[in-house]
Amino acid sequence: MSNANIEETKQQLHYMEQLHDMIEEKVQKTGKRPTYKVVNFGCQMNAKDAEKLSGILNKIGYVEAETEEADFVLYNTCTVRENANLKVYGRLGHLKTLKKKNPDMLIALCGCMMQEQEVVDKIKESYRFVDIIFGTHNIFKFAELLKARLDSGEMIIDIWKDTTEIVEDLPAERKYSFKCGVNIMYGCNNFCTYCIVPYVRGRERSREIADIVKEVEQLVADGVVEVMLLGQNVNSYGKTLEPKVSFADLLKELDKVEGLERIRFMTPHPKDITDDFIEVLANSKKICNHLHLPLQSGSTRLLKKMNRHYTKERYLEIVNQVRERIPNIAITTDIIVGFPGETEEDFLETMDVVEKAQYDGAFTFIYSKRTGTPAAVMPDQVPEDVVKERFDRLLARVQEISSKSHGQLQGTTQTVLVEEVNHQDPSMVTGRLTNNTTVHLKGNEQMIGKIFRVNLVESKGFYYIGELAE
Ligand code: 5AD
Ligand code: SF4
Repeated sequence: MSNANIEETKQQLHYMEQLHDMIEEKVQKTGKRPTYKVVNFGCQMNAKDAEKLSGILNKIGYVEAETEEADFVLYNTCTVRENANLKVYGRLGHLKTLKKKNPDMLIALCGCMMQEQEVVDKIKESYRFVDIIFGTHNIFKFAELLKARLDSGEMIIDIWKDTTEIVEDLPAERKYSFKCGVNIMYGCNNFCTYCIVPYVRGRERSREIADIVKEVEQLVADGVVEVMLLGQNVNSYGKTLEPKVSFADLLKELDKVEGLERIRFMTPHPKDITDDFIEVLANSKKICNHLHLPLQSGSTRLLKKMNRHYTKERYLEIVNQVRERIPNIAITTDIIVGFPGETEEDFLETMDVVEKAQYDGAFTFIYSKRTGTPAAVMPDQVPEDVVKERFDRLLARVQEISSKSHGQLQGTTQTVLVEEVNHQDPSMVTGRLTNNTTVHLKGNEQMIGKIFRVNLVESKGFYYIGELAE
C-alpha cells in the first residue's frame, strides 16, 4: 500500500467505532435503530462513492431505508450538466418538509456539485436545514464529519480543493453480491473544454496495481465474478505512478486473477487507445465484449476546440481496428450536440461517424454550459431551437442503427451472468451477455451470480429470450 495513507485509515476506523458506540447507546434507549437513505444523482463513479458511504453507515449501526423518510438522508450530487444541479435543488424542498416532521433527521450533501463554491454559498444561505456538506476528495472522512456534526450540533462544511491522498481499506457496501465497481484512478487531467469534471474531481491519481489486484482478489473470494474498473479516463491509468505502468499492464494482471470471470471498464478516451491495449482486449478471455468509446463530436474542427486530441479519421481508425480484431464487440458512445460554434457542417460530420461506426448504443447530450470551463465563454453559443432540431435528428438515427445491431446473436450460444429474478415473471431470471445485452430465461434465485451457457432462442429487439444450453 505504498502511496496510500495507512494512518488515516486507522483514524477513520476509530471514528467509526466511536459512532458505533453512540448509536448503540441510542438504540438501547429508544428501542429503534436509525435508518439512512443515500440518493445518487450521478455516474458509476458516484455510485461507487455512494457504496462507500453506505458501507460506513452500516458499520456504525444504521440500517438502510427504502425511501427518503429516513433518519439520515444523503444526496450524492452530480454537476456534469445543469439539469443534474436543478434536480437536487428541486428535491431539497421535499427534504425540508420531511425534516419538519422528524426534527432529528440528518441531511448531508456531497459529491461533485459541492465542489462548486457558488453551490455551497447558496446552500449556506438558503438551505440552512442541511447538516453536513462535503465534496469528492474527502469521502473517506465521512465518519469524522458525522461525529463532528453530532458533537457540535452545527452545520459542518468540509470541501477540499484537491488532494493527492488515496485512503485504502475502508468499508464499502456492495449493491450486488456478484459484481462490483473498483476504482482504479481518480480525477482527470484532460480538461476537455466543455467539461467540469477536472475542476470538481481534481488531478489524476492512480492506485497501485498491487492494491487493485488485492481488492479484486478479496472481492472474488467474497463471491464476485464481474468487476467494473472505474476512472474518468481509464486508459490513462498509471501515467502518474512511479514507475509508470499502463492500463494494458493492469488488465494483464487482472486477467490472471483466478475465479474472476468478467472484466468491464469505464471510460476510456480515444486519444489514449494504443495497439497494445487493443491486443489485450482481443486476447483476454475475461474482458467483456463491449467498448464504450466517447466520440463527443465527429468534426475534427470541433474536436480541436473541445481539446480532445484526436481527429475524426483517427477515431474511425480505432473503431475499425477494434471491430476487425474483436468480432461481435459492442461499441457504444457519448455524443454532445450544440457545442459552441457547431455549424450544420460540423453536425453532419458527427452524423457521418454515427453512420460509419454503427454504434450498438449511444448516449446523446445537449451541450450544457458549465461556469468556469473554457467553452462557457466561447463565442457563437448555438441557439436552443437549432440544437434541439439537431439533437432529435441524431437521436432518431442512433436509435435506428442500434436497433439494427440488436438481434445479431439470435440462434447462437453465449455465456450469461444471471443477475436477478425477473420482475414481471418470477419463473424467469434476467442476466447479461458480455456485450451487455439483457437475456431473460427460465430459472430461479439459485442461479443469481452464476454464469451459464445459454442458447439465444429469440431476439426481442433490445433483449433476448434464452434457454439453458445442454
Ligand atoms: N454538456 C453536455 N454533455 C456533457 N458531458 C460532459 N460535459 C458535458 C457538458 N458540459 C457528457 C460527455 C461525457 C458524458 C459523461 O457527459 O459526453 O462523455
Ligand atoms: Fe470530462 Fe474529458 Fe475528463 Fe471525460 S475526459 S471527465 S469529458 S475532461
